[in-house]
Amino acid sequence: MAKAYDHLFKLLLIGDSGVGKTCLIIRLAEDSFSSTYISTIGIDFKIRMVDIDGKKIKLQVWDTAGQERFKTITTAYFRGAVGIILVYDITDEKSFENIQNWMKSIKEVGVGHGGGILGCRGGILLILSCLQNASAGVERLLIGNKCDMEEKRKVQRDAAEKLAKEHGIRFFETSAKSSVNVEEAFSTLARDILQKS
Ligand code: GTP
Ligand code: MG
Repeated sequence: MAKAYDHLFKLLLIGDSGVGKTCLIIRLAEDSFSSTYISTIGIDFKIRMVDIDGKKIKLQVWDTAGQERFKTITTAYFRGAVGIILVYDITDEKSFENIQNWMKSIKEVGVGHGGGILGCRGGILLILSCLQNASAGVERLLIGNKCDMEEKRKVQRDAAEKLAKEHGIRFFETSAKSSVNVEEAFSTLARDILQKS
């Protein structure tokens, strides 16, 4: 039987509580939105199939809890992710300042495939340790969500663009509420991962 997809990509959303991670995933996977806030406890994922350059990509998108008290649990799920989406809320300055801390968490915990075999010399396998490998090979993307709330904007586009540039990553402003750029952000990330794989 033909495989239902060509590639499976594990993606992960991280960022402060209330920035809209769960809503972005629900918009992507179910094309719906709710303004009722139910803070995520624990961890879950949703699936979305996308077509990129003629390839069927299965996106397994993991939702994490933004609350500080869940951080240890959340970071345990970083491993194995090929893409990480860092989310802040354009109406919440603190959530933007914290992006730097989330970036650090990625580096400290280490994501991606963990240890890998570097090569074989004289019968001795050279194993790259999980720690050294830290965040290598993981595609990151920065999202400023809630762009439908222009009148309450606190974080300017330029500041976010500058931060993204410093880290060499892409940046999108999205709205899970009005659907702006949600598909584009995930598809672009998937395309970048595909082109590197
Ligand atoms: P935690 O699970 O606590 O980490 O939060 P979260 O990042 O998953 O936030 P969630 O998706 O639950 O959204 C928080 C609140 O923001 C909810 O009331 C949402 O309805 C609202 N919200 C999310 N995305 C948007 C958006 O794009 N625009 C507007 N106006 N509100 C949004
Ligand atoms: Mg949530």
